[in-house]
Amino acid sequence: MSRFDTLWYNAHLATMVAGGAPYGAIEDGALATRDGRIAWIGRRADLPDAPGRLAERAIDAGGRWITPGLIDPHTHVIFGGDRVADFERRVAGQSYAAAAGSGSGIAHTVAMTRATDEQTLYRDAASRVRAMIAAGATTIEIKSGYGLDVETELRLLRVARQLGTRLGITIRTTNLGAHVVPPEYADRREAYVALVCDEMLPRVAREQLADAVDVFCDTIAFSPAETARVFEAARALGFDVKVHADQIADTGAAALAARFGALSADHIEHTTDAGVAALAHSGTVAVLLPGAYYYLRETAKPPVDALRAHDVPIALATDCNPGTSPVTTLPTVLNMACVLFGLTAQEAVTAVTRNAARALGLADRGELRGADLCSDHASAQWVV
Ligand code: NIG
Ligand code: FE
Repeated sequence: MSRFDTLWYNAHLATMVAGGAPYGAIEDGALATRDGRIAWIGRRADLPDAPGRLAERAIDAGGRWITPGLIDPHTHVIFGGDRVADFERRVAGQSYAAAAGSGSGIAHTVAMTRATDEQTLYRDAASRVRAMIAAGATTIEIKSGYGLDVETELRLLRVARQLGTRLGITIRTTNLGAHVVPPEYADRREAYVALVCDEMLPRVAREQLADAVDVFCDTIAFSPAETARVFEAARALGFDVKVHADQIADTGAAALAARFGALSADHIEHTTDAGVAALAHSGTVAVLLPGAYYYLRETAKPPVDALRAHDVPIALATDCNPGTSPVTTLPTVLNMACVLFGLTAQEAVTAVTRNAARALGLADRGELRGADLCSDHASAQWVV
């Protein structure tokens, strides 16, 4: 056996592999990598030789826990300006929906973003992503959605791709051209949906700028019928789909997500039992966003008990954005999910590892697996 590059020993491993000990834990374990991949994982006692003889670099982890790299499956980190004025109005009593109706809210961020050049967008987003990395994220999804015209949406996705190549982590990109109807289309919403379907998504596909397509399906954004139209166009171009679902009211968005085999239905504070039943067995992951729940002083909680009863996988994300969730640290989100939504600690960790990987359609991460633990070659490729 050739030597490992690095071997950590005297470590506890939260593998997050289901079916065994809580957290898939291996206490007093060891983990070795070769060429950036996990090559061996198991109990320290089962190492075939002394750590120093097995690897170029042997690291005594001092009894610390090693987890899979954390995955943030829903963010809007690229935007111009801020929403401080919105916040002031909201603490004075204005609702999120009222802000949207008065030209502030998302429309304000769209105006600020359109007026911000690519370099500045990159610089400001990079500082947010660095904060996310410092808090443990190694894979981050980034949505566009503050451009709402073809050129600005492409600019945001280009910045997202650059963040991935320059910051050394995995960035998955999602087009959210159907975030809200932009002001210049206020009286022509059908024309905007057509623009998204017939011009924006084909350009995004041609330039390979997105991995998925998201729609905000809610009372202040797009109807289920409009959402379905965008999903049809997205599917025809080969995109996975995701949805901002039932955040403000139950519009049947979660059930729509299930019907389209969406990767995820996100927010879902107002999803009813029928919506959760539709999600069951669909493969769609429920992504809960406690940052937005907290910041908007929402009172309806996502249907956690029903999700459990129907075995719907639960993921968590920061939803980092200027208007409803200016949060960059996943550990804070885990804490909020336990305190505000009643998740167990194990559910919360699973939600930003194994289930977050599923919410992004990534089969190669979210658990710690090595060559000795798996039966096929593919799972020997798992990364931390
Ligand atoms: O996930 N709900 C819609 N979109 C974002 C908020 C966007 C904004 O208010 O700027 C969200 O909460
Ligand atoms: Fe969001």
